[in-house]
Amino acid sequence: MFKVKTGGKLYLAGEYAILEPDQTALIKNIPIYMTGEIASADRYQLSSDMFDYSVDMTPDDHYSLIQEVVMVMEEWLRGQDQSIHPFTLSITGKLEKDGLKFGIGSSGSVVVLTIKAMAALYDIDLKPDQLFKLSSYVLLKRGDNGSMGDVACIAYDNLIAFTAFDRGQVACWISQLPLRDVLEKDWGYTVEPVHTDLVIDFLVGWTRQPSISKNMINLVKANIDQDFLTQTQNQVQALLFALKTNDKAGIKASLEAVSQLLEDLHPAIYTGSLQELKLASQGLDIVAKSSGSGGGDCGIALSFSPQDSQLLIDRWAQAGIECLIKETLS
Ligand code: PMV
Ligand code: MG
Repeated sequence: MFKVKTGGKLYLAGEYAILEPDQTALIKNIPIYMTGEIASADRYQLSSDMFDYSVDMTPDDHYSLIQEVVMVMEEWLRGQDQSIHPFTLSITGKLEKDGLKFGIGSSGSVVVLTIKAMAALYDIDLKPDQLFKLSSYVLLKRGDNGSMGDVACIAYDNLIAFTAFDRGQVACWISQLPLRDVLEKDWGYTVEPVHTDLVIDFLVGWTRQPSISKNMINLVKANIDQDFLTQTQNQVQALLFALKTNDKAGIKASLEAVSQLLEDLHPAIYTGSLQELKLASQGLDIVAKSSGSGGGDCGIALSFSPQDSQLLIDRWAQAGIECLIKETLS
């Protein structure tokens, strides 16, 4: 039996803009994990604690994402001269509480997890980049409308700067070329793990209001114009530079700026609760903003003072916002 795990992700900056090729986003890995246990068996048995039943490979709506990963991976494994055999896979650790999702990337995490589990079963050492490409392949094949930044971050399990590829081009290759050829192509993205020497508290505030990114994208996308893209890219690059050069003022200024760009992009992004999450940082040595598609889910904060971190957490609690994570960025 093999056991693997994958975490979640949250955007620091660059959300929505990252839907366009060549835009960059900073995305943070979140150490709340899903676990997959896999073992060879006489027949397939897939189970997830999201559902109260297991399936084999007979198509099932709830399990279609996991089943699709299995099919793509088996195609890939055959190309690696592996002989395919059935297995049991059990997935636990829903990224949720009281039946409400955190919104930290559970569908992306399930994809990466299933790929990792199968690689372990077949004794193959997959590099983060291979994990990312295989995961994106599955999601693009299914017509997912996301940027793939989530699976990049989850595959690398690190704070990353992700520069987006042309998904239309890759989707076109997927429809025309064998899996192996698609994977061998240069998709034109970059993933760079990011490090800072500053001591920064990274905090996640959960609004307890579920938001569906796919719907938010469809609502907001018409408002994404060249001006938004250019300004966001400038601020994301400024943030990246500030993190690398330990420039606290630069970090705060660029995060404030991307937050304002999101607020101006569409009124649905900053819900009342996300406004409160941000407002709670007022007067503290902290910058806070909505994360990802907004409309609920989580916001993030970077704090430069441990005392202020605690004050923020208290203020959040008073506003019904739960602090899911407090960790030191490094
Ligand atoms: O809400 P999240 O964490 O799923 O982030 C969505 C980020 C978007 O840029 C709006 C969409 C995407 O897939 O990049
Ligand atoms: Mg979200």
